[in-house]
Amino acid sequence: MSSVHVDHGQWSSRLAFILAATGSAVGLGNIWKFPYIMGENGGGAFVLVYLLCILGIGIPVMMAEVLIGRRGRQSPSNSVKALAIEAGANINWSIVGWLGVIAGFLILSFYSVIAGWAVSYIFEAGSGAFVDASPAEIESIFNNLLQDPIKLIIWTTFVLVLTGIIVGKGLKMGLEKAVSIAMPAMLVLLLIIAGYAAFNGDFTRTIDFMFTPDFSKLTYSGVLIALGHAFFTLSLASGAMMIYGAYLPQKTSIAQSVVAIAIADTLIALIAGLAIYPIVFGNGLEASQGPNLVFVSLPIAFGQMWGGTVFGTLFFIMLGFAAFTSAIAMVESAVAWLVEKMEYSRAKAAAFAVITLWLFSMLTVFSFTGAEWAKLDFNFVGKHVTNYFDLIDHLTADVLLPLGGLATAIFVAWIMKKEAVFEEMNMSAKLFSVWFITLKWFTPIAVLFVFLNLIGIVKI
Ligand code: PHE
Ligand code: NA
Repeated sequence: MSSVHVDHGQWSSRLAFILAATGSAVGLGNIWKFPYIMGENGGGAFVLVYLLCILGIGIPVMMAEVLIGRRGRQSPSNSVKALAIEAGANINWSIVGWLGVIAGFLILSFYSVIAGWAVSYIFEAGSGAFVDASPAEIESIFNNLLQDPIKLIIWTTFVLVLTGIIVGKGLKMGLEKAVSIAMPAMLVLLLIIAGYAAFNGDFTRTIDFMFTPDFSKLTYSGVLIALGHAFFTLSLASGAMMIYGAYLPQKTSIAQSVVAIAIADTLIALIAGLAIYPIVFGNGLEASQGPNLVFVSLPIAFGQMWGGTVFGTLFFIMLGFAAFTSAIAMVESAVAWLVEKMEYSRAKAAAFAVITLWLFSMLTVFSFTGAEWAKLDFNFVGKHVTNYFDLIDHLTADVLLPLGGLATAIFVAWIMKKEAVFEEMNMSAKLFSVWFITLKWFTPIAVLFVFLNLIGIVKI
């Protein structure tokens, strides 16, 4: 069975692309995950390694992905296939695109559940449930949510249905409209909360924690987590940047847009840290809280602070907006593929994708409720996994994303014809060389090294 060449249309402007791609990048990764992994890995030194990974690996790979999308103009696997044919290479290179679509799909199966927590917390915070509550009480609010399959299913369904509706409406009426409302709203809310935190929390200690590197606190696994997170936070190796690139107008500079998106994503992660930690430290709480940071520690702090109900509610609205603009990016590449392959309408493809995702999301839902059937107990690529959520999280962030990024770098720098790459990038020869050499040598070697270490082949 072959697919038809579909004209998917294009973003209405360069700004629309930047907004959508930044919307995809900025999400739970920045506001929920980055602050807590930074806390678990000792702060400043981890931040530095993370910034280096963004610069030396994330940005080059993102440029390669957007390039593949724009030159192929189809869903990731069909774009890579078209470029492999153009280069006279084996069409099985389309696996590079497939890896991404599969990773994006798997990520959304748990991302939608956690986005559901954020939405449900809008109502928890708004109802004043955190006001003067003891840490134990706030912890039990969170545990009650995690152990209640009905609540989890309702919120996950809400997230997936809304995602499906937006994606089903199409590029201009759905995606562009959603990001043009959600992104400015998110940014304003984040800045308000950061400003509030700076005046009401322990800002000095936060600055010291985030920007004074203490390398004795950095472990090897911290480096690994920083690398995996660089892929995750920039939405790499998950179909998103390839498919958004497929809608990019021909004359737009890929390099400039990508740098803008990466800077925006990085700044927002840092601002999220600057918004959350003053509140955490100011209330005598510890940095190493783990995934509970935003759902337990922060609410404890909001419950104690002046205006905490209002700012707590605003915080979770912001988190919800950020999560939605990422969720739509994760499902878009699968939808585009269904339109090409099955000749479905967008709406039908979105419905089909969302229903399948919903079924997969149950693996995560019942991992949290502790259902017996969702428990696992084995070692998988260097990690002991205890349930499906564990497995999917580790399989995507630590395995599929680095491997997908590696495959993308190899495909663009080693398989495609250099002239074709140069033509599509349309940038100065000097800068092109810097990027191309990084992508050809530095990126694959760095990723391979970290990955081989993960599976225990190389040990340092
Ligand atoms: N980059 C998003 C975040 O940081 C997550 C994401 C991953 C979005 C993959 C799209 C694709 O939250
Ligand atoms: Na991000």
